[in-house]
Amino acid sequence: MNDLFAKFDPLIQQRQQLLDGGVTDPFNLVMERVESPTVAICNGKRTILLGTYNYMGMTFDPDVIAAGKQALDDFGSGTTGSRVLNGTYAGHRAVEDALKDFYAMDHAMVFSTGYQANLGVISTIAGKDDYIVLDIDSHASIYDGCALGNAQIVPFRHNDVDALEKRLKRIPEGAGKLVVLEGVYSMLGDIAPLKEMVAVCKANGAMVLVDEAHSMGFIGEHGRGVAEAQGVIDDVDFIVGTFSKSVGTVGGFCVSNHPKFEILRLVCRPYVFTASLPPSVVATAATSVRKLMDSADKRAHLWENSKRLHAGLRQLGFTLGTEEPQSAIIAVIMPDLETGAAMWEALLHEGLYVNLARPPATPAGMTLLRCSLCALHSEEQVGEILDMFAAAGRATGCLS
Ligand SMILES: Cc1ncc(COP(=O)(O)O)c(C=O)c1O
Repeated sequence: MNDLFAKFDPLIQQRQQLLDGGVTDPFNLVMERVESPTVAICNGKRTILLGTYNYMGMTFDPDVIAAGKQALDDFGSGTTGSRVLNGTYAGHRAVEDALKDFYAMDHAMVFSTGYQANLGVISTIAGKDDYIVLDIDSHASIYDGCALGNAQIVPFRHNDVDALEKRLKRIPEGAGKLVVLEGVYSMLGDIAPLKEMVAVCKANGAMVLVDEAHSMGFIGEHGRGVAEAQGVIDDVDFIVGTFSKSVGTVGGFCVSNHPKFEILRLVCRPYVFTASLPPSVVATAATSVRKLMDSADKRAHLWENSKRLHAGLRQLGFTLGTEEPQSAIIAVIMPDLETGAAMWEALLHEGLYVNLARPPATPAGMTLLRCSLCALHSEEQVGEILDMFAAAGRATGCLS
């Protein structure tokens, strides 16, 4: 018998080598108790959370929790069905209405995850004879959406407007063209030059989808994302987002002003052939989305946190993914996986959780310690975080 797992042997060996070196498995951490959006108990120790994408700290919001509890009492624990059969409850409509209001758009469609939103929308609107032009650093859900629809994939160099234009101009006349971009790229925390890119797309007759997973709630005057901040939201055809970051629960969505958008509910397989979100989840999401409309003070505080952490880490001597803070993600670049894993563990030992990211998820084979800030991190916590980075950096030899 040919062992179908043989292809994983190099990864199994690499992982084993890391664990044999005495390092805690960075991809198997258990949060024993979660006390707030910024603090959990891990290995019995109070740990500051700096790697949860809980940007707006909505997971413990009292109104959000009350809405979820009420929906559990009123509608039960699950829908046991697809949105197109028995799985559309009043709460699913309510969260789609909240999204339409949040983005000031005509249509909103909710999926069971953000991954499925990309998978569904991209694969359904761009098929075999269509072209998808996408940033090479796009999220896995975008690549998987392209593969599911079997479209022609044309990647271009990360955030390179000229490269995007060149690729678009090479596409045969008359072919369907979809450009897929992200507002914030989650590995390095850098933002896309959407103003220039969307203009190039429109000049070349392409539709544009922007994944605003890491900007919703935080970036832009109303928290609508990078497209809003750069003044091009009206020219974007589809915005995809998730409830698993700023909204503080689980789920995904797409909003659009396209007049034929609603037909997707009948033809989009990752929407049709799966159960809908539980009533408690859509109730928490709707409440959270509506509260995010009115969160300018939290957005301002989160920017302050991002600036303080970025400046502090640079001052300590770490190499960061961006010259300036561009989002709530700050990536610390490690020289290699072994050092990254040692630093990750030293930070955990200090009482700080960050994400260890490694290839193939990262660009250019980088190992990163990804930090995602929360609007509820206090100024004191950011100070504590910097002290922990200094101590872990010295303990591992990353800092002299
Ligand atoms: C850019 C981007 N798009 C989509 C997703 C998928 O979101 P979800 O967690 O809701 O599946 C993620 C999640 O990491 C993401 O970073």
